[in-house]
Formats: sequence, structure tokens, C-alpha cells
Amino acid sequence: MESPNDRELEGLKDWTPVEKTIFSRRSTRAFKKKPLPDFMLRRILEAGRFAPSAGNSQPWRFAVVKSPEILAEMEKDAIKMTKIMMFFLDYTRSRFRNIFLKPLIKLIIRLMHNELHPVPYGLMNAIAEGRAPVFHDAPALILLFEDCRGVSSPPMDTGICGQNMVLAAHSMGAATCWIGLIKLLMFDPKWKKFFKVKYPYRLNVCIAVGWPKVDSDGPVEREVQLVEWYDGGMADGPRIERQGE
Ligand SMILES: Cc1cc2nc3c(=O)[nH]c(=O)nc-3n(C[C@H](O)[C@H](O)[C@H](O)COP(=O)(O)O)c2cc1C
Repeated sequence: MESPNDRELEGLKDWTPVEKTIFSRRSTRAFKKKPLPDFMLRRILEAGRFAPSAGNSQPWRFAVVKSPEILAEMEKDAIKMTKIMMFFLDYTRSRFRNIFLKPLIKLIIRLMHNELHPVPYGLMNAIAEGRAPVFHDAPALILLFEDCRGVSSPPMDTGICGQNMVLAAHSMGAATCWIGLIKLLMFDPKWKKFFKVKYPYRLNVCIAVGWPKVDSDGPVEREVQLVEWYDGGMADGPRIERQGE
């Protein structure tokens, strides 16, 4: 295939529709009650199904949860699980805990750094105290089950697949929010059984999807990246460019 000529490249001065979607997408945490029509959900799923994966192994399986009864039960149990976890992990709750349990709890937090990083830890505290919901009252959730038999890195493939869905949804004017905290339900055998999560599948993430209640789309602050450009010779060091300024 031929590379585009100069005149065709001129056309890239403006953002493409894909770039516009990437830069305007924001996580939405307030949804209208009415779910997206099924044909839109199917198109979103189709964008995920079409995602690239190592060895084209497609290490995923999807489920759509729209039933208000099931969504309410998931929310209730995720809050219950958060309360149980925070009962053990919140070392600020009493003087006794602060003196005797803090080192042990800090060690657990350190060992589970990904799960108990200060951001999810803070969010879980807010959920346990009834200050935040888990699934943001979304009218639908798309569950991404990861098949651990996939080639190379199934979590990466599943992330790419989910981001395809998220971008497709936003390109149609819908709103999404990734919900990693769905993992909380996986501590409860009831939900593992309900969603048939057993080897080789894992459930680490889902995507809340619906119509936005408020317009939260717009650019959001990101760190400036110091990017190394190796565009000299072998003897030259990289040129550092500040990406995002
Ligand atoms: C894998 C993953 C898991 C996430 N889990 C949650 C979650 O459980 N709850 C939540 O409210 N937001 C969650 N988020 C959303 C992030 O907080 C959000 O993407 C980030 O703050 C950047 O904001 P933006 O999406 O509006 O650009 C998650 C995002 C990703 C990518």
C-alpha cells in the first residue's frame, strides 16, 4: 500500500473522528435510567470482538447485565464485601488498631499494591461509609471475562478489547466507566457460580455503559511524558521531548 502524499497529509491538520473520540471521552459516573438500545450494545460488543490480541487468541468472553434485579443485587453485595474488607483493612478506626494492627495492615496493602493503591483504597473507604456507589447506578454492565490460556498477556488483550468498546460507545454519544471494583464480587462464591467464573476464566473488570446524565466529556489533565526519541545514530543518545506541552 502506498504512503499518503503531502497533499493527503495536509488533511491531517485537523483531528480525525477517532482522535476526537479519544480526547473527549471521560468516565461517566451518572447515568440515565434508560439503557442503550440492544442494537447499540451489540455494536459496542462488536468493537470489542474485533480487537487485536496476541496470536489472535481472543482470550475473552463477554456478558451483558441489564436486569435491574441482578444489578441491584450486585451493588448490594459489592458494598457488603467492601464493608467486610474495610473492617479488616481500615487501621485508623481505633487506637488499638493504630498501635497494634497498623504494621500488619500496611504490609497487606503493600503486598496487594495494585488492588489497595491509595486511589481504590480511598474509593473503598467511601463505598463502605455509604458515600459512593460501586456501579454508579448504570443501566447496563459489560463484563469482560479473561481467559488465562491466551497467548502472551491476556490482561493486556482484555484491556485493548475493552478500550475498543469504550471508544465505540463514546463515538455513538453513549457514556462509560470502567469498573475494576467488580473484582470485589469475585470474593463471593455466589457470584463466581452465577457468572460461571472458573478456570480458565477470571473476572477483573467490567464497563458500565449508558446515556450520560450530565455532560462530563472534555479534556482531562494528564502527566507530561518525557519521551526518548532515538532518531540519531547508534553513538548518539536519545533526544528527550516533553510530550503533552
Ligand atoms: C482498569 C480500570 C479500572 C477502573 N475502575 C474504576 C472503578 O472501579 N470505579 C470508578 O469509578 N472508576 C474506575 N476507573 C476509571 C478511572 O478512575 C478513570 O479512567 C481515571 O480517573 C481517568 O479519568 P477519565 O476516564 O475521565 O479520563 C477505572 C479505569 C480503568 C482503566
